[in-house]
Amino acid sequence: MSLNIPTLHNIEAVKTETEEVKTFTFQSPEIVKESKPGQFVMIWSPGIDEIPISIANASLEGEVEVAVADVGDCSHSLHQKHEGDQVGLRGPYGRGFTLIGERICMVAGGYGAAPLRFATKRAKELDKHVVVLEGARSSAELLYIDEFKRMGCDIRIATEDGSEGYKGTITELLEEMLASGERFERVLTCGPELMMERVCGITSRAKIPTQVSVERIVKCGCGACGSCDLGGHRICKDGPVFDAEALVGTEFGRWKRENSGKRIAITPDAGELLSIPPLHFTPEYEPVLATEVCGINFPNPIANAAGFGFSGKLLHRYAVAGAGAVVTKSVGLYEREGYPNPTFIEIAPRSYVNAMGLPNPGIKDYGLEIGDAKYADVPLMLSIFGKSVEECRVVAKIAIKYPIDMLEFNASCPHSDFVAVENHPKLLRSIIKEIREIVHPKPIAVKISPNVGDPAGLAMTLEKAGADAITAINTVMVRPIDHTLDMSILGNPTGYGGKSGKDLTVGGKKIVFDLYEELKIPIIAVGGIFSAEDVIDYAKNGASLFQVGSALVTEEPGFFSVLKKELKEYIAIKGYKNISELVGEAHRR
Ligand SMILES: Cc1cc2nc3c(=O)[nH]c(=O)nc-3n(C[C@H](O)[C@H](O)[C@H](O)COP(=O)(O)OP(=O)(O)OC[C@H]3O[C@@H](n4cnc5c(N)ncnc54)[C@H](O)[C@@H]3O)c2cc1C
Ligand SMILES: Cc1cc2nc3c(=O)[nH]c(=O)nc-3n(C[C@H](O)[C@H](O)[C@H](O)COP(=O)(O)O)c2cc1C
Ligand code: FES
Repeated sequence: MSLNIPTLHNIEAVKTETEEVKTFTFQSPEIVKESKPGQFVMIWSPGIDEIPISIANASLEGEVEVAVADVGDCSHSLHQKHEGDQVGLRGPYGRGFTLIGERICMVAGGYGAAPLRFATKRAKELDKHVVVLEGARSSAELLYIDEFKRMGCDIRIATEDGSEGYKGTITELLEEMLASGERFERVLTCGPELMMERVCGITSRAKIPTQVSVERIVKCGCGACGSCDLGGHRICKDGPVFDAEALVGTEFGRWKRENSGKRIAITPDAGELLSIPPLHFTPEYEPVLATEVCGINFPNPIANAAGFGFSGKLLHRYAVAGAGAVVTKSVGLYEREGYPNPTFIEIAPRSYVNAMGLPNPGIKDYGLEIGDAKYADVPLMLSIFGKSVEECRVVAKIAIKYPIDMLEFNASCPHSDFVAVENHPKLLRSIIKEIREIVHPKPIAVKISPNVGDPAGLAMTLEKAGADAITAINTVMVRPIDHTLDMSILGNPTGYGGKSGKDLTVGGKKIVFDLYEELKIPIIAVGGIFSAEDVIDYAKNGASLFQVGSALVTEEPGFFSVLKKELKEYIAIKGYKNISELVGEAHRR
């Protein structure tokens, strides 16, 4: 895939399909080349937002078609556009459908017909028999029926008002078809979540393997932020297409998340918005990697970085995959939606800029995630933020009631309108003193960035104020511009974002070296860790714990285990007894 950043494309054609849905056509051989049915693209309406939309068709001539329903700000702005207008496109993203079996049934509701149109096209190219079931309230809402006909599919229609085909719902029709003896080797479904949940119930009873294309709030689109979580799966990277069995035991069909990550019921009778708890997990004790920092025993010193993973279930998954600790999203006193998209872009290979805007449900509602994460027996660091002593006091008082092991105070978010309190050292000192008093004896790390001129000087002040550790570094402030439109690419009002990834590796290591010269308290390294060599360099420069962030865009959670294995090999080859022996070695030469 080329760089993960919106690229301007002309709209080649716009076709009104129904009262709510229009099809947009773009010329993009790059996207076509990589597209699989079920994948999606991100469409940027400059100045408004960027939204995920499934690929409805990808042609040999390099054309990409998408069907957009007019439901809110961004989709509405797209509906106002005409042939020749420009929008940004990037992708394709996610995992698509698997076209196994000779007789496949597509069950579509609403614009769910779009990805199934593309899946049908590929299935027909593979000579499969495709039966399409499409449901709508009335015939006027049916989408792509002519396209399905042109592809030679066996089409069955259900409308709730009986204006076309079977009178009733598509799931009633499916049930009747199966009861009358029709058989399929596979069912693929896309549409409203409750419809898909019913489809899964029916096909599970009939023992038909089924795949489901799900929707959640997508922000980064590539696995970084965790906003699109469904039961610990990031639908933008691990989905959006899932085997139905993978969704059993998740909130699928019961609740989803708002932009802030807060849980919200899908049905009025959803009950309490709880997760089915993950399995209890205890990590293996590995003497060469086990580390004690701030009085806490870490099974190994590698964690995720704050903001890479939102849900407790994803953090639990990181622990099972080998992380020796987990760090939450930064959470404040109040619920925050975060900024409009684009919130995450790639400006050079594996160098990213984000302006998420600290989406979080507020500390009171975050306890549900901590509860899920604590099914893994690894230390949990709760990342918090706040703009005043009073606000931070309340956050800390709530935080300390949760089963956390350590706090990390995010003093350095460069793109938020207010939370780079590192720029106000006097205020930050007061905040840290206050929080420390509340949470003691639980330790508190303070996270700083290079955006302050003298990180080592600031860290010394924070050590005096009672910080138990310093986490370095947060992202570096930049402002990416789209030169054609002459405007900032990021969706936040200022256009400022924080750079992460490869561009931080070298500078981050230097800052940790400088901090170690001045501090007595431990240092937690973060910034451009992509390999065991990076961990080793950071350790020798003075860090005791290590957080992995941007690497998780391209790596799977199993990356934690890869790092551990390579560290153990290095430690064995070089004859160290334990990773702690590496800490600060560069200063002892
Ligand atoms: C993988 C994926 C594929 C999708 N494919 C299509 C498609 O082919 N055609 C299409 O029209 N839409 C598709 N969607 C849904 C589409 O992304 C949302 O409708 C869109 O983001 C709404 O943005 P908006 O600014 O127009 O509306 P907003 O003003 O943001 O929201 C309007 C309503 O839609 C809800 N919403 C917002 N974002 C999402 C989301 N990501 N998923 C579900 N509900 C959301 C909001 O909660 C609100 O109720 C897809 C979503 C995902 C995750
Ligand atoms: C998408 C994204 C979200 C982030 N969210 C937070 C956050 O909530 N709190 C925080 O302290 N840092 C946050 N960060 C910063 C990271 O924790 C980390 O400091 C930074 O990305 C550098 O590490 P990396 O190069 O390994 O990504 C975020 C970074 C990204 C890219
Ligand atoms: S939107 Fe899926 S991880 Fe960010």
